[in-house]
Amino acid sequence: MSLRESLSTPDAKARYVRRLFGTIAGRYDLITVLLSYGRDRAWKRRLAGMAEVRPGAQALDLACGTGDITFDLVRRGARAIGLDITSRMIDLARAKVTAGRAPAAAGFLVGDMMALPFGDGSFDLVTAGYGLRNVPDLDGALDEIRRVLTPGGLFLSLDFDRPPGRLLRVTYLAYLTIVGSLVGLVLHGDPDTYRYIAESLRRYPGAEAVAGKLRDRGFTNARVVPVLGGLMAIHVARVGGPVPAPPAGAAGPA
Ligand SMILES: C[S@@+](CC[C@H](N)C(=O)[O-])C[C@H]1O[C@@H](n2cnc3c(N)ncnc32)[C@H](O)[C@@H]1O
Repeated sequence: MSLRESLSTPDAKARYVRRLFGTIAGRYDLITVLLSYGRDRAWKRRLAGMAEVRPGAQALDLACGTGDITFDLVRRGARAIGLDITSRMIDLARAKVTAGRAPAAAGFLVGDMMALPFGDGSFDLVTAGYGLRNVPDLDGALDEIRRVLTPGGLFLSLDFDRPPGRLLRVTYLAYLTIVGSLVGLVLHGDPDTYRYIAESLRRYPGAEAVAGKLRDRGFTNARVVPVLGGLMAIHVARVGGPVPAPPAGAAGPA
């Protein structure tokens, strides 16, 4: 089945994504550094810095992978849980704790962000790093995120974006296709493993449209913070309700 066919329906995409991340989990950290030219950690730290973490805040990091954002949130004082559908990713996140390379207070579980195993209003903060682009049903995922956020709770998401200008967009997608195919071929003998980034981005509505969806679903102040000149984006959105006081001395979202 071609990559295009594998992403053509929500069920097919869910199956493909599960298999894909199971395959690449072992090399995920290395590849993320290489494909982002070492910038990925700084983008994640920027997202975590915008989270206005209060000590003891309940945080949920969706599609947590090997746990970078989860660990950042714990270091900033949150009680954070990382959730990911790929059990190998969760194993790798836990192994960082066991090896003493990450804070032990982080909790991890295997789960699907389309059907979160938490009650309504369970979290002050929900984050997702490269998560929204991978779900089979974006609207359903946003509804789940809103459901588990407490009134006044904050949602932050980092992901690729499609630049609005046609020339830049075509060039960017071509670049991601070529580089992704080469890396996939060299590392996994399958160009589609990383060509998936460009292909999923083609199907992604774009950061501004996602901000519109957040507003439609009752989030307030949904906005897009461009990263890397708009090639990437961070979404910031809040659930209506009383906003918890930020920690003393904290700067507002950049
Ligand atoms: C590109 S990785 C991002 C990992 C991590 N957030 C980071 O920024 O390094 C995308 C992750 O989304 C996870 N994922 C995909 N679909 C998911 C779903 N429906 N529910 C939970 N996790 C999912 C994958 O298993 C994978 O670990």
